[in-house]
Amino acid sequence: MNVIEVAHLCKRFGKIAALDDVSLVARQGMTVGIVGESGSGKSTLARAVLGLQRPDSGSLRILGHEIVLGGRMPRELRRSVQLVPQDPRHTLNPARTVQRSLWFHMAAQGIRRAERKARAHDALAMVALTPDYLHAYPGELSGGLAQRVAIARALVGDPAVLVCDEAVSALDKGVQAQVLNVLSELQRDRRLSLVFVSHDLAVVEHISDEITVLRRGRVVETGATQDILRAPKDPYTTELLAARTAHPPLQGDEEG
Ligand SMILES: Nc1ncnc2c1ncn2[C@@H]1O[C@H](COP(=O)(O)OP(=O)(O)OP(=O)(O)O)[C@@H](O)[C@H]1O
Ligand SMILES: [Mg+2]
Repeated sequence: MNVIEVAHLCKRFGKIAALDDVSLVARQGMTVGIVGESGSGKSTLARAVLGLQRPDSGSLRILGHEIVLGGRMPRELRRSVQLVPQDPRHTLNPARTVQRSLWFHMAAQGIRRAERKARAHDALAMVALTPDYLHAYPGELSGGLAQRVAIARALVGDPAVLVCDEAVSALDKGVQAQVLNVLSELQRDRRLSLVFVSHDLAVVEHISDEITVLRRGRVVETGATQDILRAPKDPYTTELLAARTAHPPLQGDEEG
């Protein structure tokens, strides 16, 4: 099943075409990676999918429902597409304990009080954190732990899709691998769909089933990850392949 279908999306900021006829499909239980240099339109695409950025034209379907561009996304659909942001120490409210952040997020999603405790515990368990962390403040957590909390927060409403926008870019390489493992296990065990955005192809290649390469708002190439790595069709993809950083492979990665 296609959980997200983006077709012919366009978005301009003045003279700049941030998205120029971009199409993308995210399937249940699969990960689609979005790569491209800074300014290529990755976050604009991610924000459009989350209903946070109104495109000028094109169409967006979530779980088969056509989303009216610029309209308010129905609460149920908003709940099913969740963001894992770049730096959790900036996006988690420093004045709130983990518990309060999770509660706040669940309240916004209309989740009943009686359900919140169990959901919070479940979500923390999904990222391998004990309930002890409910009482921690973001400032007391390392980058990797804070990012797990941010992932748990994204998971509390049982979403179908996580949109990860540079979700590991602020972390050290070793911690990046841990967080990527958490995400790929979730994707496998819970049939989650991931839209995984990064400027670094090395981060995307281990976790993605498919990759879409963006350049200046346009899709230059899209395909199965192995095909893109083995035989890139576009010279820009070849450049990105050459520029990628060394990255520790995921656990269970047979190419490791
Ligand atoms: N709110 C905005 N107002 C004006 N221009 C914007 C706005 N948001 C994005 N842009 C422009 O649109 C283009 C695409 O930006 P976007 O943030 O989507 O790129 P990106 O691929 O996410 O880059 P990065 O890797 O740096 O995060 C850039 O030229 C950017 O300057
Ligand atoms: Mg961005």
